[in-house]
Formats: sequence, C-alpha cells, structure tokens
Amino acid sequence: MLAGKRIVLGVTGGIAAYKAVEVCRLLVDAGAHVVPVLTEGAEHFVGRTTFSALASEPAQTSLWNEASPIPHTALGQSADLVLVAPATARLLSAYASGYSHDLLTNVLIATRAPVVLCPAMHTEMWEHPAVRANIATLRARGAHLVEPEEGRLAGGDSGTGRLAAPARIVAEVRAVLARGADLAGLHVVVSAGGTREPIDAVRVIANRSSGKQGYALAAEAIARGARVTLVSTVDLPTPAGVDVRRVQTAAEMEVAMGDLAEQADVVLMAAAVADYRPVAPAAGKLKKDQGVPQIVLEPTPDILAGLGARKPAGQVLVGFAAETSDLVANAEAKLARKNLDLIVANDVGAPGVGFQHDTNAVTLLQPGGEVDTVTLTDKRAVAKAVLDTVVRIRSAGADHHPRKQTEKA
Ligand code: PMT
Repeated sequence: MLAGKRIVLGVTGGIAAYKAVEVCRLLVDAGAHVVPVLTEGAEHFVGRTTFSALASEPAQTSLWNEASPIPHTALGQSADLVLVAPATARLLSAYASGYSHDLLTNVLIATRAPVVLCPAMHTEMWEHPAVRANIATLRARGAHLVEPEEGRLAGGDSGTGRLAAPARIVAEVRAVLARGADLAGLHVVVSAGGTREPIDAVRVIANRSSGKQGYALAAEAIARGARVTLVSTVDLPTPAGVDVRRVQTAAEMEVAMGDLAEQADVVLMAAAVADYRPVAPAAGKLKKDQGVPQIVLEPTPDILAGLGARKPAGQVLVGFAAETSDLVANAEAKLARKNLDLIVANDVGAPGVGFQHDTNAVTLLQPGGEVDTVTLTDKRAVAKAVLDTVVRIRSAGADHHPRKQTEKA
C-alpha cells in the first residue's frame, strides 16, 4: 500500500523531531517516495542533511529558496498524503486558522490529499482549550489524528503528549491510504443537526443535536473518496469538498433528503428530526399579554421511514437511534420498521455519548442480527467504524447480486 506513494513528511520544531527521522526511514523502507519539509523550528532539533540522506528527495525548508518557483503547490498537488510528525501546538493553530506563513503550512493549505497529524507537546499544552479547539476544527475538516501517547516528555516531565511511536504512525498512514479510495465513485448523502420547528416568528422547537456526528461522517466519507452532500441545520466548519444544503425544519429536510437519496449510493441519517411540530405557527411574535399560548402539535413526516419505503436497489440506508433505555431492542425495532441496512444506536443518557459531545459510543445493528460495538471514542472514529460497516455491507451485496451492482455502476 505504501509502495510508490508520494508522502510529504512535515517536521515541526519539537523535541520529538528526532523520531521523525525513524518515521522517514520506515516509510522509505516500505517503498514510499518521501519528501521532507522542515520548519525553521524543526531545524533547531534536527539537521536537514539527515533527512536529505534518508528520504527520497532533499529536504525542503523554504518557500523562496528552492529550484521550483511555487514549491508549496507542486508539493501539495503531487502528494498522495501529507504527514506532519511531530505537529506542534503552533502548527495546529496555524493550520486550523489557515495562516500559511512557511512552506509546510502552505503545503497543508494547498493540498487535497489526506492529511495525518501527529501532535506532540507537553501535557498542559495538549490539554489547553485552544489546542483542543484546533484539534476539533481540524478533525471536522477531515484531518486524521494520531493521538500522542503517555510517557516521558522533555525536561524530565511525564504525561500525555509524547509523539506516537514511529511504527504506529506508519501503520496509520497505511490505514489512511488503504481506505482512501474505498468510497471512490459513490455519492454519499448525510444529514446533520437538529431540526427547528417554528412556534412563531422568533421561537422554535429544537433539540440538542450539534451536528458534530453528521459532520464527522461527511469528513470521513470525503476522505475516503466519496462525493458527499450534507443536509445540515447547523453551521459547523465544512469539510473541504463537501456540498452543503442548509435546511431548518423537518419538512425542508424531507424535501432535500428525498431529492438527493433517489440517486445516492449511501444515505446516513444522523440528524435529530423533531417528531412533532406546531400545527399553525404564528406569523408574528406571540405577545405575553395574549396569555399563555396553547400550542397544538402534529407529527412530522418520518423522513427515514419514507426513504426506506422508496429505497433504490443497491443503496445502503443507515439510520441512527437516540435512546435512553432498551438501546438494542428499540434500535432493532427502528431498523426493521424503517427498512434500514444498518442502524447506529447511541445511549444518549450515558456520559460523553450522543448530543453535543465530541465523543460517542455506539452499537451497530444489521438486519441479519450482526452486532458491533464502538466504545467511547471521538466522533470521527465512530464515523470510520460506520463507513467500514457500510463498505462491508456493499461488498456482501455485490457478492450476492453481482449483476445488479455491475449494472448500477
Ligand atoms: O449532532 P450531535 O450533537 O453530534 O449528536 C449526534 C446524535 C445524537 C444526534 C446522533 O448520534 C443521533 O443519534 N442521531 C439520530 C437522532 C434521532 O432523531 O434519533 P431517533 O431515534 O429519534 O430517530 C431514529 C432515526 O429516524 C434517525 O436516523 C432520525 O434521523 C430518523 N427520523 C426521526 C424522526 C423523523 N421524523 N424523521 C426521521 O427521519
């Protein structure tokens, strides 16, 4: 999987920069074509001669001094993958804000290739809210993170923040490249966020969905080569290349999902759709002196059940189930009732699970009774597990109905 792959290896200025030498060697030994890009800070820790001697091309350090007049676009466009190890807090901040002040940050902004970031820093820095926010932004935009490990840090300290072991970094690079194209040529439609049903001109019935799980699915799907359309009620950073349709109400989401799902290969319904809406929202603002309003509700359409009833041959339809009790039994009932190929059940009463959190824990249920669990992890990792299952469902379908799949393609 690594043979012949062109990897830009970004190295930034942290004590762990010496371990990037080993990462470089492992990648080259596995057959990758490695182009090192060192920041000014990195050169305080390791010399460019070391990387030039081990890598496939001389190390590059500057936007201005190289033979190519625009090295960042050449590097970014030709890369199969950009790996940054170690990634300092400063690099994460610059990349998250699009501040492209040196060759490496320019390459990161100029590339459409998958990006793998391997942060390394002191525990206090790793846990700082600014760093956490930058990590969340970068993840939401599709970057892959190799989390730092616990152990000895510079200056005799110990804690979380140590660069992941070189073998682990290389394994993640392999995994990202391996699944890089497994959704290529497919149209994936994702819904995200909670619907907002108007009561009057200023008030809505809403729910706690932040859209994070849906956006993580969109980021993972596009990183794996899909064409992705996101039907969203929220305004989160959009993963590069994802087409977003904004909606507010269940009725608007039903129209958007109905249109898109007709031609989609995979539909992922992560949105939290209101089950009820006011029958007659007031055109203006309800005034206090009119007394306590009596709001009459009516059921919204069950969008997912409608998609299940009209599901085209070969489409994989995935629903979510937000439960606070009887997780598996309730999710199984929805799986059958809505004619789904997969349901992702989350116990939204459990700590760190479901609405608004950066993390989730899910049980994946299929009609044949196959059950998988994903213990508490970040929402991107949940998205990865969901799409891994979708890929397996598609290939099992292709085995059972080879002609149908070929005709569709
Ligand atoms: O957005 P986050 O803050 O990241 O939180 C993620 C999440 C908790 C919202 C997500 O993981 C999740 O569980 N989404 C589904 C929430 C939900 O509405 O679950 P439900 O069990 O009520 O509905 C079952 C399925 O039917 C869902 O796929 C839902 O989108 C769909 N549905 C429900 C009602 C309705 N009128 N139409 C629908 O299509």
